[in-house]
Amino acid sequence: MNVKEIFETMEYGPAPEGSAEAHEWLDGYGRKFGHFINGEFTKPGKTFASTNPANGEELAQISQAKKGDIDLAVSAARKAQSDWESLSGYERAKYLYAIARQVQKHSRLFAVLETLDNGKPIRESRDLDIPLVSRHFYHHAGWAQQRDRLLPNQSAYGVCGQIIPWNFPLLMLSWKIAPALAAGNTVVLKPAEFTSLTALLFAEICQEIGLPKGVVNIVTGDGDAGEAIVNHAGIDKIAFTGSTGVGKAIRKATAGSGKGLSLELGGKSPFIVFEDADLDSAVEGVVDAIWFNQGQVCCAGSRLLVQEAVEERFIKKLKARMATLRVGDPLDKAIDIGALVAPVQVERVQDLMKKGEEQGAVRYQPDGTIPSNGCFVKPTLYTNVQPANIIAEEEIFGPVLVAMSFRTPDEAVTLANNSKYGLSASIWTENINLALDIAPRVQAGVVWINSTNNFDAAVGFGGYKESGFGREGGKEGMRAYLRPEWELKLKSLGKAPAQAKPKLFATDGIDRTAKLYVGGKQARPDGGYARSVVNADGKLVGEVGEGNRKDIRNAVEAARGALGWGSKTAHLRAQILYYMGENLDYRRNEFADRLREMTGASAGAAKKEVELSIERLFAFAGWADKYDGAVHNPPVRQMAVAMVEPIGVIGIAAPNDNPLLGAISLLAPSMVMGNTSVLIPSETAPLAMTDFYQILDTSDVPGGVVNIVTGAKDELTKTLAEHDGVDAMFYCGDAEGGKKVEQYSVHNLKQTWTNKGKAMDWTDREICEGEYFLERSTQVKNVWVPYGA
Ligand code: NAI
Repeated sequence: MNVKEIFETMEYGPAPEGSAEAHEWLDGYGRKFGHFINGEFTKPGKTFASTNPANGEELAQISQAKKGDIDLAVSAARKAQSDWESLSGYERAKYLYAIARQVQKHSRLFAVLETLDNGKPIRESRDLDIPLVSRHFYHHAGWAQQRDRLLPNQSAYGVCGQIIPWNFPLLMLSWKIAPALAAGNTVVLKPAEFTSLTALLFAEICQEIGLPKGVVNIVTGDGDAGEAIVNHAGIDKIAFTGSTGVGKAIRKATAGSGKGLSLELGGKSPFIVFEDADLDSAVEGVVDAIWFNQGQVCCAGSRLLVQEAVEERFIKKLKARMATLRVGDPLDKAIDIGALVAPVQVERVQDLMKKGEEQGAVRYQPDGTIPSNGCFVKPTLYTNVQPANIIAEEEIFGPVLVAMSFRTPDEAVTLANNSKYGLSASIWTENINLALDIAPRVQAGVVWINSTNNFDAAVGFGGYKESGFGREGGKEGMRAYLRPEWELKLKSLGKAPAQAKPKLFATDGIDRTAKLYVGGKQARPDGGYARSVVNADGKLVGEVGEGNRKDIRNAVEAARGALGWGSKTAHLRAQILYYMGENLDYRRNEFADRLREMTGASAGAAKKEVELSIERLFAFAGWADKYDGAVHNPPVRQMAVAMVEPIGVIGIAAPNDNPLLGAISLLAPSMVMGNTSVLIPSETAPLAMTDFYQILDTSDVPGGVVNIVTGAKDELTKTLAEHDGVDAMFYCGDAEGGKKVEQYSVHNLKQTWTNKGKAMDWTDREICEGEYFLERSTQVKNVWVPYGA
């Protein structure tokens, strides 16, 4: 072919990236790797093959970690931890900085190795993955130095177990290791079994820069090795990225262990194109959203929602663009789509495609061939997809896009939120008002306006709903690796004293029983039973309704119906809390008498509890318009607006002690940040909170914002914590009760806070009037907004 012909056809010639250096590096280890423990590579043990998914060739043998290996890694990390945390922030920063520099220095080797091992196009590993890795270490070098200034009175968790997936092997490693080390933790990290190589090269860098031994330990192996990390008693925090199924198993396994947990899981993210969008840009956006990394991206824009008026035109343009995508050798610099990670992933994707087609979806794939050898799948678009089709609901994790249409912006929001996941969303419109109206309404931890798949170390990343909890990046990400010092000083509450079974009786006849409070009204308990409330001397002090499962369900429904509370202004919510404080103040003596009567507290103690409760309502009213977001400056022409949003419906099982103050300490932060709640008052002394109905009624609290169900705490808690309509759960009680709440929360992966069986001091203003419970009542959404012409 001569130059003229080439010019006319504009065919791409091959543009292969050399891989000799990467192969040399593998040869240097005899293509057989052990683990990296206490600063040294161990001798390889039982191994498995790691192959190049683009051609099936074996790259190396990787060791499968056994329990003994994990034990060694954990004890090395434990031994190193206190010295590491005791270094000055500047010293830790220097190490992180040195890692960033070394990653940059070896960036080509890292990129090629990543592409060989994972199958992703070299263009992506070279221009995205590896630069973001060094950016992550640079950013967190800064955090090491600013930790105590910006996040005071916190300490590191200790030893962190980190388990990462195969889609962005080194990038996920950096998202885990950089903040953990900056905060003063040491780590035991396990890469995914398909992609261990760049983690092992990273271990070499740790050696090169003289990172103290044991600070970073890397063990390789499959899910069994991951499970051994999760269950290891010597680990203080687990950070996991991967499938929602494994995330749920980890939530269950760690329940009651006291281990910190952050989960970054799957997604089925909407890509919303409005009729006034720049359609050509949006088409390019789709290419990035779903064909980047072969669609193996947790935040892939895999559900295309197009406004009906432009649907036909948009799909036509998209199909034309798909025909130009080049699938092939990932080491070729002019390739758009490389290989999927492994044959098993190809099978998984093809299986879902088949099921989707059986359910009526219509497939489009561009003409042209793909390499027959290797894990290649053509870019695929499905139309005629019903919202209940399996491919519209399940994460495919392949180059497969499903398209649906909508008529109005409201319908777009409904469709976008019609998913168990909530990781990200992409919104395309030239109308800034529309974009900024939709962004807060989609349930997703990251929203990109007229853009997609942007990431930065300074901007938190993580999900809503079953996409997990905890954030990576920025201040939120640092918080996930620290805990307040006071938490470590709490004493155990011990086992709750056995209680005499309360007397239950039917509530016919003249009824003095305090009822339940649901949807802003007093409600009779569904079962028609009440229970007696007795004081420490066994004297009857009142009766409350005996709530049951149906009552909890009604209360959750009322709370969901009142979620509009979250979109009221912070000023208005503050006003209502102030009003509650004022009304409680007005009736302070009555409440103090009630506390005395129920708990046998002294007059002084009862008075103090009421006073502190009023003060707490005021404190959180004051927080309403101060606990807010930030504007980040990532190194692109976009700003990322970190919005602090309510979680939704919060279930609150209040402590038995401090029946008024304890309940208000949990209710007020949740309420003021815009959540609605279902509260189970102290089981032994519930009357303070049933009297509280009158405060709610007289303070303009909209019906359904606070719902109160009295009765057997643990039974009611079970229904509440298992309920999919509840988004988060606060529980204060004994350790066993807390463990159960964490187990019950698994189905919809609700966020939980429990006192871990420790005695909380509800009178402590530092703990109970600060940001601690505000943080637990909120989730951060980062909205990326482009600027400039
Ligand atoms: P996976 O969730 O099984 O693997 C992720 C990591 O967890 C790996 O390091 C693996 O060894 C480890 N692991 C597996 N079982 C474990 C256990 N019981 N305890 C602790 N660690 C465990 O993901 P897999 O099977 O490789 O991929 C299956 C599907 O998961 C994909 O098709 C995709 O839909 C989804 N996925 C989502 C990811 C995300 O970033 N959201 C990443 C990887 C997979």
